[in-house]
Amino acid sequence: MEELALSPEENAALGPVLAEIAKEHDTIEDAGLIRRAPLHARRLPVRLLEFLEDFRLREPSALCLVSGLAVDEEELGPTPAHWRDSQYGSPAFRHEIFFLLCASVLGDVFGWATQQDGRIMHDVLPIRGHENYEIGSNSLQHLSWHTEDAFHPCRGDYVALMCLKNPDLVETVVCDGADIDWSEVDVAALFEPEFTQMPDNSHRPENASESTGDPVVDRLRARSFSLIQSWNDDPVKRPVLFGDAEDPYLTLDPYHMRTEGWPDRAAAAFRGLCEQIEANLRGVALRPGDTVFLDNFRAVHGRKSFRARYDGSDRWLKRLNVTRNLRGSRAWRPAPDARVIY
Ligand SMILES: [Fe+2]
Repeated sequence: MEELALSPEENAALGPVLAEIAKEHDTIEDAGLIRRAPLHARRLPVRLLEFLEDFRLREPSALCLVSGLAVDEEELGPTPAHWRDSQYGSPAFRHEIFFLLCASVLGDVFGWATQQDGRIMHDVLPIRGHENYEIGSNSLQHLSWHTEDAFHPCRGDYVALMCLKNPDLVETVVCDGADIDWSEVDVAALFEPEFTQMPDNSHRPENASESTGDPVVDRLRARSFSLIQSWNDDPVKRPVLFGDAEDPYLTLDPYHMRTEGWPDRAAAAFRGLCEQIEANLRGVALRPGDTVFLDNFRAVHGRKSFRARYDGSDRWLKRLNVTRNLRGSRAWRPAPDARVIY
C-alpha cells in the first residue's frame, strides 16, 4: 500500500482553503462545487498531488492511503442513523470537500440513481435492520469481498473511503491483484465471457426512497431500476479478468454471481481465483482522517463483521466512486456533465 501522511503544516495550510470553499456552497452535492472540484484541487499540497498522480498513472499498488487530516469527533456530532439523515449542513462538510478534491485528482466523481437516492457522496454506516443483510450498511454479517458495482459496465475505476469514526477499528479487507500468484490461476479461462454477474443489493428499489421529490428524476430512476431488473432476469455473460494477461484487471462479486450453467473449466478457474483472493486478503483498519483510494480494477474489498452500537458513536465513513472515463457512461446520463448514472 502506498501511504502519505499530511503534516501539521499541510493541515494548517488546508484549513483556510477548505473553509473558504465551504462558505461558497451549502452541500457537497452542489453541482457547481463538483464541477469546480478539479480546479480547486490545484490548491492541495503539491506533495499530495504528485502522490495521487503517481498512484493513478503508474499503478504502484491497488490502494493508497492519505492519512493525517485533522478530524474533531466532537465537532462531527453523532453518527447519523441512516444515510438519508446526512447531507445538508453536514458537520463533516470540510472533510467532504477535502475528499472530493483528492478524488478529483484521480478522475471524475459520479453516482448511481439506484444507490443512496442518486447522491454523489455516500455515507457508509451501520443501519438498524441491515445487520445480517448483504450490503455495506450491515454489521453482524461481514461484507463479502467484491469489486464495487461489478455488474455494471460503468463501474468506477476507484472506490474511495474517508474515515470519520471507527471506534472499534473494524477492518476493511482488501486483496491486491499484485499479491495473487497468477501462475496458479487459469487466466485464459477467466478472460472468456462465461460468468454471470448479478446486480448487488445496494441497487435494489427496496433500499431507495419511494420518491426523490422530483418527477423527472423519479421517471429516469424507474427506468434504471427496470434495466437492473432485466439484468437480474436475463444475466449477461462477462469475463472476470481483462487487460494484460500477465497482470490482469479483475471484476467479480461472488456473493452476487449465479454459478449454475457455467462450463466446468470456467467454474474450476473461478474457484481457483477465489481461493487465491481468500489467501491474500488483508485487513486495513481506517482511523479518523484516513482516506483510502482502492483501485477497483486491481483490488477487491470487503469488511469484517462488527457489533453496531446505535448510540451515535458508530463507525462512519464517506464513500466516492471515481471514473477515469466519464464519457464511457454517456448513454446512461442525460447531459455531458451530469454525474448520476440512470
Ligand atoms: Fe464496496
